[in-house]
Amino acid sequence: MKNVLITGGAGFIGSNFIRHLLESELELQVVNLDALTYAGSLDNLRNLPRPDHYTFIQGDIVDQELVEDILRNHDIDTLVHFAAESHVDRSILGPAAFVRTNIQGTFSLLEAARKVWIEEKKNSIEPARFHHVSTDEVYGSLSKEDPAFTETTPYMPNSPYAASKAASDHLVRAYGHTYNLPITISNCSNNYGPNQFPEKLIPLMILNALEGKPLPVYGDGRQIRDWLYVGDHCTALMSILKNGQLGQTYNIGGGNQPTNLMLVEQICTILDERLPDSPYQPHADLIEFVADRPGHDRRYAMDYTKIQTKLGWSPSESIQSGLKRTVEWYLENDAWLGKIRERPTLKDWLSKNYSDRGRKT
Ligand code: NAD
Ligand code: DAU
Repeated sequence: MKNVLITGGAGFIGSNFIRHLLESELELQVVNLDALTYAGSLDNLRNLPRPDHYTFIQGDIVDQELVEDILRNHDIDTLVHFAAESHVDRSILGPAAFVRTNIQGTFSLLEAARKVWIEEKKNSIEPARFHHVSTDEVYGSLSKEDPAFTETTPYMPNSPYAASKAASDHLVRAYGHTYNLPITISNCSNNYGPNQFPEKLIPLMILNALEGKPLPVYGDGRQIRDWLYVGDHCTALMSILKNGQLGQTYNIGGGNQPTNLMLVEQICTILDERLPDSPYQPHADLIEFVADRPGHDRRYAMDYTKIQTKLGWSPSESIQSGLKRTVEWYLENDAWLGKIRERPTLKDWLSKNYSDRGRKT
């Protein structure tokens, strides 16, 4: 791993991963290809260590020629693919962008890698790797009794977002099988931590609580997600890039599975302790139950035994410590938050998404 192309590196997880790579001892060059959609921000990449090892290119992953040029000009041997439309609620209101970026975009990257790595270089780049970052949502929804998802759980995506990610996973796997493209895939549970755009549950709750706005909990709030601190996701990806077997899929989970309501209450408690003089004490009084997400998956849980036994990875952050770190990060980075808060894309989204939901109780 010498020359690494990251797609979507100005987003939440990609930016954390670029920082993680540059903080490592590894002698490498990192190229970040990102279209800077509403979800991407160069503020996520400020004060990077070793800036001379980093190049930013603004562009679209659907642009296959651009990707081919980057693979050639930067002699890329490792591609880590994060770029996506990533928000389930947005996919329900407007699925087209999800089909374009997540399916067409992944296809363009695969075609570019096939052309440059296999046809032009005749597989001479050794070792090369195309790593695709995907989600546990491809497996569908679990009941209370079901065992956690494993790598062999059948795909049953329920939202347009999940279906577009499932399609991209299938394409990546098929390129490995058919063309011997050196691929690995990881399916990961809900991430949280620094740089997450406040349309997702945890940063939205922190942002609203700080402003004394309602904390909208969908449905009965008893849905369950498997929360993973983003730093743990980064170490899992590193272990796959270093030692993951080509052609394989690895599930990554956090082992933290509170209900959404419990999670929001926990954030409120942390804020109560951290901000004793806040006029919005107790913050839990801001919780409002609103109309549910259509087709809302009830429960996710990841069985990460494979990556644990084969690659020696396991998560290190508990939900208590991870949430405290996250709240602290948002409090300390009020300049970042202030800029995001003023973005019309966030304001428009919040008014559009929540205007119809109404208050349930
Ligand atoms: P994000 O929405 O924060 O960031 C996505 C990034 O991709 C943005 O910087 C955006 O500008 C860029 N992008 C979007 N369309 C693009 C295009 N056509 N060309 C180039 N760049 C484009 O997403 P995230 O939460 O960091 O998720 C990263 C990846 O991880 C996604 O593939 C997502 O499906 C997957 N994932 C996310 C989670 C999670 O909890 N956030 C969990 C599992 C898997
Ligand atoms: O499971 C992995 C997935 O996690 C990733 O693939 C997606 O990219 C990522 O966005 C995330 O999807 P979710 O839909 O699970 O995340 P979100 O933060 O949107 O919602 C988490 C849970 O909280 C979900 O059950 C819906 C609920 N929710 C969400 C919001 C934004 C609320 O109750 N209220 C809200 O305002």
